[in-house]
Amino acid sequence: MTSTLAAHGGPKTLDVAAPHYRWPTIDAELEQAILAQAHRSLSDRDARGVIGDYEQAFAAFIGTPHVVSFASGTAAIHAMSRIAGLRPGDAVLAPAYTFLATASPFAYDGIEVVFADADDYGNVTARTLAERLKPNVRAVIVTHMWGNPCPMEEIAAFCRNHDLLLLEDCSHAHFASWAGQRVGTFGDMAVFSTNQKAITTGEGGILLTRRDRDRELALLYGHYNKRCLTEIDPSADHYAFAFTGMGLKHRITTLAAAIGVHQLAHAKQIETRRRTVLERITTGLDGNPVLTPVVVPPESGQHGLYVIGLRFHPGNATVTREQFIDWCIAEGALEVDAPGSTRDISGEPLFSRRDPFAPWKPVQPPAEHLPGVAAFQETFLKIPIWGYDGDDDLVDGYLAALTKVSAAVAR
Ligand SMILES: Cc1ncc(COP(=O)(O)O)c(C=O)c1O
Repeated sequence: MTSTLAAHGGPKTLDVAAPHYRWPTIDAELEQAILAQAHRSLSDRDARGVIGDYEQAFAAFIGTPHVVSFASGTAAIHAMSRIAGLRPGDAVLAPAYTFLATASPFAYDGIEVVFADADDYGNVTARTLAERLKPNVRAVIVTHMWGNPCPMEEIAAFCRNHDLLLLEDCSHAHFASWAGQRVGTFGDMAVFSTNQKAITTGEGGILLTRRDRDRELALLYGHYNKRCLTEIDPSADHYAFAFTGMGLKHRITTLAAAIGVHQLAHAKQIETRRRTVLERITTGLDGNPVLTPVVVPPESGQHGLYVIGLRFHPGNATVTREQFIDWCIAEGALEVDAPGSTRDISGEPLFSRRDPFAPWKPVQPPAEHLPGVAAFQETFLKIPIWGYDGDDDLVDGYLAALTKVSAAVAR
C-alpha cells in the first residue's frame, strides 16, 4: 500500500524549513577560528601565517609534496594550463560533461578544447579520450564527476603512451581514491576547488604538484612579490619574474584559509559522517526499480563525498524524471535536483573563440555527438550528502520521500 503523494493531497514526508543543506557547520569552534584570524590578520602577503598552515594541512590531507592556494578553483586551473606550457595551437582533451570551469580557463588563452564522451558515471575513460585524440592534443584534463573517481590507471597509461600531460580536476572528489590511490596524485598536476565542496573555504582553489619547479611557477601565477621573492630559488630562470609575477594576483584570503585549516583538522569526522550518510541512502535504495545510486563499486574506488548521484530509470517509471523531481519536492525534499549548471559544455560559443581578442561575435560550435554524455545527463539527479550533527531527520526524510515517490510511479 503506498500513501497518497503530497502532490495529490496526501501528507508531506518531511516538513523541515529551508535551507536543507548548510556547509560548513558554523559552530562555536569555527566562529572562534574565524574571529581569531580576523584579529590576527585580514591579509597575508606570505605563507608564514594561516596561508602556509592551510597549504601544509592540505598537502598532508592528500599526501602530496606541494600545494599552492588560489582565490578560486578557476584561477588554479588557469595557472595549471600556463604551467603545463599550453599555448594557442595546442589542444587539451577535456570532458564534455563537467562544470564549465574545467575547460574555460584553457579557452581564455585561446587553447583548443576537444571534448570527450562520458561513461555511466559521467566520467571520461581511456576509450572516450582515445576517440577524440588528434595531433595537436598536448594534455588531458579529467573531472571526477560528482565524487566518482575516473578510471585513472587506464587514463594514466593512455597519457603515457601518447606523451600527454595528465591534469586532474578534483573539485568534486576531495575524499576520492582509485585503486587505493588518492585522486589528485595520478597526474602531473591537480586542482581542487574549495568553493561549496566537501572541504570548503567558502571560495578558493588549490593546485597540487610533485615538481618543485611547477610549484614555483604556480606562485608566479597567484602570489607575486613577497612569496615569490622568498620562496623561489634565486638561481632559477623564472626568478627574474618573482617581483612582478606573471601579471595577475589570485591570493586566497586569510579568513578562507582559516576556514580551510578548521575543515582539514576535522577531515576525518567529515569523511566518516559523509560516508555513513552515503551508505545509508544507497542501502536504503537497494532494490528500488526507479532509482539507482551512481557510485563506483568499492573494489574500484572510493567515492569523493561531494553529493549523492542517482540514476532515474524512465523505462521503469510512469512519469518523467522532471515529474519525479517535482513530486519529491512536493514531499518536502527540496534539494532533489537535476543539475543545470553542470552539463554538456561542448556547444558553448566560448570554445569556438580561438582568438581571445576576437570581437563579440559568438560562433556556435557544431553540436558534438556524445551518446554517453546525453544518456548520463538525461537520467541523472542528485541530493546532498549531509555531514553534520543533527542531519538525521533530513537523511531519513529524503530517503523516505524518494522511496515513497518511487513506489507511486514504479511500473
Ligand atoms: C568540476 C569543477 N571544476 C572547477 C570548478 C571551479 O571552481 P571555483 O568555483 O572554485 O572557481 C568547479 C566549481 O564548482 C567545479 O565544480
